[in-house]
Amino acid sequence: MAQEFITINRHISIEGRRYPQATGEFTSLMSEIVLTAKIIHREVNKAGLVDEITGFTGDVNVQGEEVRKLDQYADDLFMHILKYSGHVCAMASEEAEDLVRGPTYVNSGKYVVLLDPLDGSSNIDANVSIGSIFAIYRRVTPPGEPGALEDFLQPGRNLIAAGYILYGSSTVMVYTSGRGVHGFTLDPSIGNFILSHSNIRLPEKCGIYSVNESYTRDWTEGVRRYVERCKCLERDDCASSFDGKTLEKPMSSRYIGSMVADFHRNLLYGGIFLYPGTKKKPNGKLRLMYEANPMAFVIEQAGGAASNGVMDILDVQPEELHQRIPLFMGNRDEVELLENYIKQYDLKEELVGV
Ligand code: AHG
Ligand code: MN
Ligand code: MN
Repeated sequence: MAQEFITINRHISIEGRRYPQATGEFTSLMSEIVLTAKIIHREVNKAGLVDEITGFTGDVNVQGEEVRKLDQYADDLFMHILKYSGHVCAMASEEAEDLVRGPTYVNSGKYVVLLDPLDGSSNIDANVSIGSIFAIYRRVTPPGEPGALEDFLQPGRNLIAAGYILYGSSTVMVYTSGRGVHGFTLDPSIGNFILSHSNIRLPEKCGIYSVNESYTRDWTEGVRRYVERCKCLERDDCASSFDGKTLEKPMSSRYIGSMVADFHRNLLYGGIFLYPGTKKKPNGKLRLMYEANPMAFVIEQAGGAASNGVMDILDVQPEELHQRIPLFMGNRDEVELLENYIKQYDLKEELVGV
């Protein structure tokens, strides 16, 4: 019997048809994102061969970070393709200061999209895995008017779809539209993403912690104690001094510095990712709208949890497009244990960024 090839476009269209009021617009919007992913995949694979891919543009973005050529390329491409799709009344990107609108005919678009066009870009020149992240909301302003800031400043709970593309040993696209998490691997010989990871669930065991430990001295006490517990440094019997829960052995540490890659490995193997706030930067580095919310939606749909240390990421009411937030996500029981450490040791010091 021939192998069953379920392309991502077919999968999205089948999912879309479950809603009686569906018009096919969401399916078309997702197809544009899939197309963009394929083009970025093509460009990423030229890194090292073509001068336009590696190195810096010389500009600094709204985040105060130096822009790499591939950051710029990926941002321009997403913006260009989505701007004229007709389904999106406005877009926002980690790379752009303000929201971006298209020609007036797209004012009828039902959706807004938020993007981290290239995540982990410091890894590009070293041929290490990088990614793209997207998040889609239904607009709250009336169709026909230009998209507005209030269309974006919705809690992650309102997301209708989110996901990421990981340009790794192969290119994988993972998405959720609120009915589980599905992963597709790009087969370059046919130019299509094929279903390879159906209904991904986080494994029960959490064996990995992912954090940049060079910042340990700047962490709050709760985060520091939690990471010590991951390493079984709190007690010889590997029990948590907080709740007595025992690990079989220390967890493994894995940190690439591309959140999408760290996240994807933990999603498949079981793990917790941490980007805490510090005493100097209580909100940490990662961005609520472009990084935390979409990943939180995926991890919850896979049976895990995402928190800022105090509450679920998806319940945080955004106040501005580029706001940063401490981020802890992975197996639910581990995220809850970390929240307990924070409650016990940090909240009295009011050091977490909430
Ligand atoms: P981006 O490339 O979109 O700016 O994101 C980089 C982020 C994220 O991918 C990663 O987890 C983190 O920065 C790494 O930061 P540190 O070097 O501070 O650990
Ligand atoms: Mn990023
Ligand atoms: Mn980025």
